[in-house]
Amino acid sequence: MKEEIQSRKTFAIISHPDAGKTTLTEKLLLFGGAIHLAGNVKARKTQRYATSDWMELERQRGISITSSAMQFNYKGYVINILDTPGHQDFSEDTYRTLTAADSAVMLIDVAKGVEAQTIKLFEVCKKRGIPIFTFINKLDREGKNPIDLMDEVEKVLGIEAYAMNWPIGMGSDFKGIYDRKTGFVDRYAGGNHYENSKAPQSGLLEDAEVQAGIGEELLHHLREDIELLDMAGNEFDLERVKKGEVTPVFFGSALNNFGVPNFLDSFLKLAPGPEPRNSNQGELDPVSPQFSGFVFKIQANMNAMHRDRIAFIRICTGKYERGMNVIHTRSHRKLRLAQPTQLFAQERTIIDEAYAGDIIGVHDNGILRIGDVLAEKDGLEFEAMPFFSPENFARISIKNALKRKQFIKGIQELQEEGAIHVFRDLNIGVEAPVIGVVGQLQFEVLEYRLRDEYGVNVEINHLPYEIVRWISKDEQKIQILKESSMSMVVLDQDENYAVLLLDKWKANWMSERYSIEFLTQPALP
Ligand code: G4P
Repeated sequence: MKEEIQSRKTFAIISHPDAGKTTLTEKLLLFGGAIHLAGNVKARKTQRYATSDWMELERQRGISITSSAMQFNYKGYVINILDTPGHQDFSEDTYRTLTAADSAVMLIDVAKGVEAQTIKLFEVCKKRGIPIFTFINKLDREGKNPIDLMDEVEKVLGIEAYAMNWPIGMGSDFKGIYDRKTGFVDRYAGGNHYENSKAPQSGLLEDAEVQAGIGEELLHHLREDIELLDMAGNEFDLERVKKGEVTPVFFGSALNNFGVPNFLDSFLKLAPGPEPRNSNQGELDPVSPQFSGFVFKIQANMNAMHRDRIAFIRICTGKYERGMNVIHTRSHRKLRLAQPTQLFAQERTIIDEAYAGDIIGVHDNGILRIGDVLAEKDGLEFEAMPFFSPENFARISIKNALKRKQFIKGIQELQEEGAIHVFRDLNIGVEAPVIGVVGQLQFEVLEYRLRDEYGVNVEINHLPYEIVRWISKDEQKIQILKESSMSMVVLDQDENYAVLLLDKWKANWMSERYSIEFLTQPALP
């Protein structure tokens, strides 16, 4: 079991949209023999989001909305990639997904540098203290000066950068990458490098043929840069990498599959496997014999072919065996994990065993919630999932009353996925709930999914509120809030009282004026 667990590498790729996450994911899967499509740009254009994304909407918008998990084997490692959506409006889902990762790969577009969404996602990884590896992509195009990029990473993100390899030229002049440790130069040839037999001679930098291929000028630049890095750059310190204080930086071109194997080999050596997790019973060693895990994502109707609901579980300790019984900590009930599936690109396979570090998807019929713990012994709790307060609110109603049942089911399931927060207006029933979301775009996703997955057309009436606060059940104070034109009293999914408020200022004013305590999240029962 120890060996199995130590061979696990579970990570997420974080990036700003368009940096090449889909492309890199495909190339990584290619090494595991997971997809035949990878590297075939033409095929990709037509089935563009075939591997890691499911929804039509994504195809329309060209953004990736859902997070998924994919597993493959490579050189004796079992690799789990957690796909995180890049668009800022889906950050809640992304944040939760990052709780399941042991490390992160930060993908940066060489021309664009550190972008807005990268910064946000980086911050989450930093808070978790997980190691972050950087891959600077699209070297086959013109971009920023590599030294400036290293500087940008350090200044904007506040992490030390250590170049593992170094690009030789870029764009039309891109000649390859130089490995700082071995002195080996991988020469670049456009096209699909992985299969390219006509690639120019790679070899040690001292090799005359390699030097001739690079050319005098670029060779001179490379030597200067390397000297600068050696003298003025950071030290490589694996312990600090593990703490997330130093990020190893790699260069390449995912589209051309160039630099990807170099990155992957190094990453697998340096990235940590499953680490001990904090719990209410102290730090739990992943190698401990008893199974435990937590739900970090739930998704209904994941695939039109399988109209079902999947809960994604990150295994934290021990081993899962098919059909095993576990305790669902929140309800203290026994649960049989009968048919866990592993998601392998778009295909699913039923698995017989899985180990700490792995992600399994189990069929769920409404019992599981995000953050729920499943373990062999009752009473175990891990650190709470991050909670994100919704900032946009709207009243949603059905256009066709005959679809009421489907509407209620759809709203309920999307709430359980953690995609929306559902509130009930005290005066109106479940037919016209108030929905809260973090990002505006989630309303569009909601509308789309209700139509596509539940056959329900809805009307969305946006409300002017920007924040929600939870309050205690004090009739007198609730009355004040009900009567105010600045607030709206609602009940959350667990029948807790909450109030929607126009903005922070008004919230503070009301809280002080009427001595009402506003909580930023529901108090635990
Ligand atoms: P994302 O998931 O991070 O949003 O990015 P994605 O992989 O979809 O890549 C975004 C665009 O960048 C795609 O181009 C992709 O081909 C391109 N790209 C990715 N890696 C590289 C690289 O190493 N070099 C170059 N030159 N381009 C790269 P597109 O035109 O939007 O799509 P497509 O029509 O090529 O599929």
